[in-house]
Amino acid sequence: MKIKQAAFISSFADVKKCPPPEKPEFAFIGRSNVGKSSLINMLTNSKKLAKTSVTPGKTQTINHFLINEAWYLVDLPGYGYASVSRSTRQGFGKMIEDYVLKRENLSCLFILIDSRLVPQKIDLSFIGWVGDKGVPMVIIFTKADKLSKGELQKNINQFKKRLQEDWDELPLMITSSSKTKAGKEEVLICIEDAIKLGE
Ligand code: GTP
Ligand code: MG
Repeated sequence: MKIKQAAFISSFADVKKCPPPEKPEFAFIGRSNVGKSSLINMLTNSKKLAKTSVTPGKTQTINHFLINEAWYLVDLPGYGYASVSRSTRQGFGKMIEDYVLKRENLSCLFILIDSRLVPQKIDLSFIGWVGDKGVPMVIIFTKADKLSKGELQKNINQFKKRLQEDWDELPLMITSSSKTKAGKEEVLICIEDAIKLGE
């Protein structure tokens, strides 16, 4: 899969206002500052298509980017940041919950996990919730450039072990770095496969 064209389409706080659900869609979600917007820029070979920041809480809306005039990449706000996370029963924020539950053309949700951290309760809880809802997901361990191969593998193994306590089958897992572009091909192959499956 080659990305030849990437265009910003819209930014909305309400899933009902998103573009008509006529094209396959791939969304990026995870804790604030995990690197969702940076990953979208890395995949699209752009520096500022999606807005990034060193301060958590930068992306506050649902942002659609049309790729090759055929499918969407979606940048979502983070969960687990300040009071936003406590605004709904599940604690992930109403916008995120509505989006995951109601976006009918969502082909796959990429859940980003900071590879430097030990398993975080909110990430495990979010993955559990998405799994219960039966939404297709792929896990991406971000910022892999920030730690050694050994540390990276240790953290990933620990995360897998925690997931295996609750699930028999684990989702596909990819390691990425927006800095070195690690993981780019894997994510694009995954998108290509999902589009083909849906045709
Ligand atoms: P919110 O929109 O606030 O939820 O954050 P986000 O998940 O979109 O994170 P964003 O892409 O804005 O990145 C947050 C910070 O992490 C920025 O300073 C990025 O430069 C940095 N960052 C993101 N990905 C990587 C990575 O792979 N490697 C390194 N070294 N830094 C990264
Ligand atoms: Mg962002």
